[in-house]
Order: sequence, then C-alpha cells, then structure tokens
Amino acid sequence: MPALLQYRAGGRGNVLMSNTTGSQSAQPIDLIIDTDPGADDVIALLFALASPQELNVRALTTVAGNVRLDKTSRNARLALEWAGCEHVPVYAGASKPLVRKPVYAEHVHGEEGLPGVAVHEPKRGLAEGNAIDFLIDTLLAARPHSMTIAMLGPQTNLALALLREPQIVQGIKQVVVMGGAHFNGGNISPVAEFNLFADPHAAEVVLKSGADLVYLPLDVTHKILTSEARLEQIAALNNKAGKLVGDILQACIGGDMARYGIPGGPVHDATVIAYLLKPALFSGRSVNVVADSREGPTFGQTIVDWYDSLNAPKNAFWVDSGDAQGFFDLLTERLARL
Ligand code: RIB
Ligand code: CA
Repeated sequence: MPALLQYRAGGRGNVLMSNTTGSQSAQPIDLIIDTDPGADDVIALLFALASPQELNVRALTTVAGNVRLDKTSRNARLALEWAGCEHVPVYAGASKPLVRKPVYAEHVHGEEGLPGVAVHEPKRGLAEGNAIDFLIDTLLAARPHSMTIAMLGPQTNLALALLREPQIVQGIKQVVVMGGAHFNGGNISPVAEFNLFADPHAAEVVLKSGADLVYLPLDVTHKILTSEARLEQIAALNNKAGKLVGDILQACIGGDMARYGIPGGPVHDATVIAYLLKPALFSGRSVNVVADSREGPTFGQTIVDWYDSLNAPKNAFWVDSGDAQGFFDLLTERLARL
C-alpha cells in the first residue's frame, strides 16, 4: 500500500495517510458493496449511488446482520429504487454467520431494518444466483487488483468466498470495512462492535487473506456525529434523498445519543463511502489487527497493535479520526444530486 508519511497536528506521532484509490484516481472505482441494510447502510448506499463519477457500483451483495437476510435484501433493492439505480444487481448471500448463532440489531434498526421510513416490496427482484458465487466469479475474472469491496455488515459473504476460492484475492484492489473498535470500547458488548461481534470468524478469514484492508471502526465513526446544524443542512436539500436520510437519522440517533451521552448520532457505514470518495478527510495508521472469536467477554473484539508492540505484520490501515464537517458537507452535496 503506497503511503505518504504525514504528522497529525498534536497527534500520536507518525500517521500514515494511505493514498488510496479514492477520488484522486482518474478512473472510477469498480465497487461491490456488501451490506446489511440497516439504517446507516441505506444512507451509505444513497451516498455511493449519487457519486457515479468516482464510484462504479457494480453490484450489491446482501448479508444477514442488522435484520434477517430477506429484509436486508429487500432494503438494498429499496435503496436502489430510491436512487433511481435499479439496474444495479442485488445478490443475496449468507443468512447466518460462519460459526456462531445469528445475532441481529432490531433494537437499533427496527423490525423492518429501516427506521423512520415506510417500506414496500421493490419492483425489481433479486439477481439470479447467490452472493458468494457472484464474488468468486467476478473476482476471479477481474483484472489483477481492480475491484474494491465496501463491507458494511458482518463479513460472512467475503469470508465464504475466500474459504472456497482463496485465489479471488488476485482481483481485489482494496477492502474497506466499517467495523471494529479499539480506543473507546464496543457498541454491542463492552469491547466489540456489532459487525465483528456478529461474525468474528469471518473477520478473521478476511484479516488473514492478504487483501489490502482499511478499517473504519467506532474509533472514528463515533467522532463523526450529526448535529442540529448538520441535520438542517440535509433537510434544506428539499429533495427525496434529503427527506429519506433526515427521517432515518431522526428515527435512530436518539438511542446512541442517550446511551453514549454524545451530542449527535453516528452514520457508521457512510464513512466507508466518504473514505472512498475523499480519503484526505480521514487519518490513521497501518497496524496489526486480530479478531477474537473465543467464547467469553472479549468475543468479537478487534485487538489493534496501535503502538506496534508485537512488531507483527501490518494487515490493516486503521482509521482513528476524521473531519466531521467535511463528511457532512460531502454527504449533503451528493444527496443533493438524487
Ligand atoms: O456497529 C455499526 C455497524 O453495525 C453498522 O454497519 C450498522 O449498520 C450495523 O451493521
Ligand atoms: Ca451495516
């Protein structure tokens, strides 16, 4: 991973800003979005679909996570319908994790997986075939290191594809993951973030795959929070996307604000899209990360060697901070296009 050495003002020393493929590259990023919509997933999908100059969304692959697979697959198709992008295929994937029993987040995302919004059965159905076969076929046929994968939910689909056909790594340029937690604890357990907690075995497979990995954990997503002014700038769009995103955020941020005593709500998954569009909004460093899949209080924890105590191979770029206003300005500017 080419990187520029950059010092973060008042930071913890060297910060490696990965000069990722983002919007710095002339060619659009060929992108597969793996997702469990999910309130913040839908916002991320609208964000990506509103950015065709930079992101060529080739397909969505769905996974059980926030809610069951049938609902995440419906909500993914709804997001495409709302963005006017029904031509993008949706492949349904894993209905349960690799090993553990399924866990869902209906307490956050509601029974339908889409708080604050009326849902319906989209006109367009699912694509033929399942997500794992699609990932394998697409990544084996892809030019070397040409495909980027945004992972917005449990990493079960990509893990199953890697286990069945490890050679698919050849087609992967970068995997950008919303998941994990290091500095300030978890959101589904004292130490674990939901996507990792929902399938730590899958995360272990992806962490060991050798793919170029970027993690956007709670460490950064809990610093990029809504505010009254940011909600107003979205509402002021006066368009359908602004209304959808505003209604979703209004329906789900209260829980986080009350639970963590924070002044606004996070938009976890949308930070992955912002990273792809404008990586300079974020900073972090290359580290060694392992996922804990042992039963017990640390189940699902990401152990991040931030100070390189083990001198172990650096298998992920861990983002720990970002420009919150820059994020909301970019999100709002893109939603205005839908
Ligand atoms: O912990 C936040 C993550 O879990 C987000 O991806 C959210 O959609 C849920 O899947
Ligand atoms: Ca998600």
